[in-house]
Amino acid sequence: MKDNKDTAIKKIAKLISDKPNSKVVFLVGAGISTSCGIPDFRSPGTGLYDNLAKLNLPFAEAVFDIEYFEQNPKPFYTLAKELYPGNYTPSKFHQLMRVFQDKGKLHRVFTQNIDTLERAAGIHPDLLVEAHGSFAHNHCISCKKEYPQNVFKDKMLVGKDFANCEECKGLIKPQIVFFGENLPRKFFSTWDKDVTELDDESIVVVAGTSLAVYPFASLPEEVPTTTTRALINLERVGDFKTTPRNSDVFYKGSADAAATELAKELGWLGELEFLSGLLDNDNSSSKTVDEGHEDEAAKVDSITKDLEKLGLKENK
Ligand code: OAD
Ligand code: ZN
Repeated sequence: MKDNKDTAIKKIAKLISDKPNSKVVFLVGAGISTSCGIPDFRSPGTGLYDNLAKLNLPFAEAVFDIEYFEQNPKPFYTLAKELYPGNYTPSKFHQLMRVFQDKGKLHRVFTQNIDTLERAAGIHPDLLVEAHGSFAHNHCISCKKEYPQNVFKDKMLVGKDFANCEECKGLIKPQIVFFGENLPRKFFSTWDKDVTELDDESIVVVAGTSLAVYPFASLPEEVPTTTTRALINLERVGDFKTTPRNSDVFYKGSADAAATELAKELGWLGELEFLSGLLDNDNSSSKTVDEGHEDEAAKVDSITKDLEKLGLKENK
C-alpha cells in the first residue's frame, strides 16, 4: 500500500469514473469532523481522551461508560452540550459524501460520529447508519420513558448539567452507544446486507477513524478482496496497517483536502462548492490546517474548563 496522495486520489476517481455501476460505502469517524471544531477522541494532544484524562476521571473513556454515567453523569452532559447538534456545520468531507449521494454513487455511510453532521449535510436516512447512535432519541435509564430531542435539550440546558425524568427523577440519556451497550440493530442488519452486495465495482472508503473501537473496527477486514478499500486518514490504522492488501489505497492527509482533490478529479468541484455555499460552511476552504487545529485546541480548552468547573478533579 503506497501513500502517494496524487496516486490515491487518481485511483479512487478512476474506479468511480470507469465503472458505470460503481458505488461507494463510507466508513467514517471523528477525523471527518475535526475541521468543524469538534475534537476527535484519540489524537495525541488535541483528542478528548488525552484532555479528559488530565481531569482524573477513573479512565478517559468513563465519559461514555454506562456504569460511570449512573454514578456521575456530569461529564457526559457537559460533553453533550458541547457536541449538541446544530452547533456545527458539516465539513467538506461531509459535503463530498452528499455529492456522491446526489450523483447516485452512494451505497451507504456508516458513521461512528454522534455529531449528526451527516444528517446536516443531507445524507438520506436510508443511506445512513449511525453506528454509535445519536441525539435523536432519548430515554430515562431507570423507567425507560422516552423524551423528544427538544425536551432533552431544554432539560439539559436548564438543568444545571442534569436531565432528570419527570416520572421517576432518573437520568435521561440520548441513545448514544456507551461502552457496555449494544450497537443499534440497523448497524448489523445493514452491514450484513451491504457486504454481500460489494463487488469489483464497489469501493469502501474509510476516513477519519483510528479503527480502535469494535465492532466497527472489524468492518474493513470483512470487505471482499474483489472490492477496493481506500483509507483517508492522518495515519495508517486498523486492518490497513496490520493486514494491508495490495489493492488498498492510502491517502495520508486531511479528509477535507482529500474531498476537494477527489471532487476536482471527478469534475464535481462545482457541485461541492455549491453545497458549501448552501451549508454556509467556513470550516475548511478559508482556513489553513493550522487555523483548524487552533480551533480544535480552543474547543478542547473550553470543554476542559467546563469540566474543571464541575469539580471533576475532586472525583476519584
Ligand atoms: P479517534 O479519535 O479514535 O480517531 C480519529 C482518527 O482520525 C485518527 O486516526 C486521526 O489521526 C484521524 N484524523 C484526525 N483528524 C483528521 C483529519 N482532519 N483528516 C483525516 N484524519 C484525521 O475517533 P474514532 O475512530 O471516530 O464513541 O473513535 C471511535 C469511537 O471512539 C467514537 O465513536 C467514540 C469513541 O469512544 C462514541 O462516541 C460513543
Ligand atoms: Zn424515569
